[in-house]
Amino acid sequence: MKFIVLTVAVILTSAWPTTQGLAADAETGKTAYEKNCAGCHGADGKGNPAVAKTLGEKGLNIVGKETTAKSDEALLKIIAEGAGKMPPSKKLTKEEQKAVLQYSRSLAK
Ligand code: HEC
Repeated sequence: MKFIVLTVAVILTSAWPTTQGLAADAETGKTAYEKNCAGCHGADGKGNPAVAKTLGEKGLNIVGKETTAKSDEALLKIIAEGAGKMPPSKKLTKEEQKAVLQYSRSLAK
């Protein structure tokens, strides 16, 4: 009995930090996206219609197949360095850029 309790305790404590880490990541991604990306790409990732007039609709939708089919590496490069009329995300750390990509991918589902 003592052994089982101990095992359960060990499993719980080792699983805890992982789930917490993931939750924190999702939260980081959402906050960073809303602050740095939603202005152009829209809260839903389909593109802010007001901005589409000046920047062109093409490219603003980041939940379409054209974007989601691209690799993480390719998209991270665009997020970090910018592309066309998109400015580079200099303020975001590498971790935040990954979290933001994860969040934008989650919008596409
Ligand atoms: C000033 C407006 C603006 C902001 C802010 C902005 N983007 Fe963009 N983004 C664009 C435009 C315009 C394009 C299309 C670029 C092009 O012409 O290739 C684009 C392209 C992209 C693409 C590539 C789409 C594809 O299929 O190639 C991704 C991914 C992306 N943005 C993600 C983000 C993320 C994540 C953020 C926040 C960190 C962000 N963008 C912030 C305007 C913006």
